[in-house]
Amino acid sequence: MPSDARDHVFTLYPYHNAIVQSAQGCLVRDTEGREYVDLAAGQLSASLGHGHPRLLEAARRQAEKVVHVGSRFLAAATLDGCAAIAGICPRGLDKVVLCSTGSEANELAIRMARAATGKHELVGVRQGYYGATHATLSLSDYVGFIRGLGVRAAGVHRLACPDCRRCPLGLEERSCDAACVKRSAAELRADSTGDIAAFLVEPVLGSGGIIVPPARFFAAVRQLADGYGALLIADEAQTGLGRTGRWLGMEHFGVRPDICVLSKGLGAGFPVAAVVTSAEIEERCIAAPLANMSSHSFDPFAGAIAAEVIRIIRDDGLVERADAMGRHLRARLQELVAHHAMLANVRGLGLMVGLDALSPESGEPSSLFSLALEAECLLEGVILGYSALSGVLRLLPPLTIAPAEIDRAIDGLDRAAARVAKSGLDLLRHAPTHAGSMKMAATFLTKL
Ligand SMILES: Cc1ncc(COP(=O)(O)O)c(C=O)c1O
Repeated sequence: MPSDARDHVFTLYPYHNAIVQSAQGCLVRDTEGREYVDLAAGQLSASLGHGHPRLLEAARRQAEKVVHVGSRFLAAATLDGCAAIAGICPRGLDKVVLCSTGSEANELAIRMARAATGKHELVGVRQGYYGATHATLSLSDYVGFIRGLGVRAAGVHRLACPDCRRCPLGLEERSCDAACVKRSAAELRADSTGDIAAFLVEPVLGSGGIIVPPARFFAAVRQLADGYGALLIADEAQTGLGRTGRWLGMEHFGVRPDICVLSKGLGAGFPVAAVVTSAEIEERCIAAPLANMSSHSFDPFAGAIAAEVIRIIRDDGLVERADAMGRHLRARLQELVAHHAMLANVRGLGLMVGLDALSPESGEPSSLFSLALEAECLLEGVILGYSALSGVLRLLPPLTIAPAEIDRAIDGLDRAAARVAKSGLDLLRHAPTHAGSMKMAATFLTKL
């Protein structure tokens, strides 16, 4: 690798020094021959593991037939993909748009809701993340964006974050009856014009810190949305496609959204996303009309990938496997938490698992300690997802992960946590992260 090869990459993220050569199953290899257990499934997306042979074969077959046809034609693989997606959604949600990324899909879902209701304002959730386009980012509540690093739009509101461990009302989850939604409803009455098009929710808050809302939360949000004549959009980017031990995260809560957004796991590493709604909402959008243009809506390649991903998940029992492996992962993490004071609060559903990285001084979740743990884990051959903005480690491995791979990763995290406990944040000075990128990360964190 020439020494200046990286010079032509714009520093958009704090990149690691390791350059990836290849990946197979749950293992990633770098150009130096080092091997890593991937507990992040790439960007929480490669849910079948890397290089799944059946998926590669389906991709090759479809690429040989037709990849892209443009927006005036439908292709056989597109129909196949849409039917497969409708087959995993709740009854009545069976009208599908195929697109490429979660941000694009949420953006379209928002425009659908505005077209179908004739209303404009939006409601998200504090600590929610919906994407990086203008509308989705302005609705997102990443810590950094609150402090002026992101975009803000008028007519955007947020419900209280349903984090029962830090209940703003000091209530017990068992008996709270989603009182936080009632409190948010009062705020909404005061702050909004009432012209609300949609409520956007993640069934489990992902980037906000793997927060599982209390059982009644979504029923209460549904009722609130209905009261405004607004639509409920479930953003299943992280929770969809078996990740939580059910096909869709909302199944845990027994609430049917009006629009369901799928991405990440739907393409299992390929850029595939979908917006799914009912025939009735489709009709309202056609009448409005809904203006939408995108070069890659309904690409047959995306359709073939989505259909094959769903078939593989079904054939290999990966929804049930996510539930079983998630239990194993959480049990192993509980053992670690018992003897590492800096790790706490193991939580999640299925293979969507989070835990806090605590600062030894404050005992509170710490962005810098999650960064240090991630860096040390890399030296141990373990790739962790983390949310540096909330001090949370996120573990969303491929649904195909084996118990032995989980155990290997836990051993690495154990050694990494011991080193961070001993040497603290000094370790960050020698982090296996590109110096220029580190500067960028430090600037970003100090602005928060
Ligand atoms: C819940 C959620 N929605 C939307 C997005 C945006 O998806 P993408 O990065 O594919 O645009 C993400 C990405 O992390 C996400 O976690």
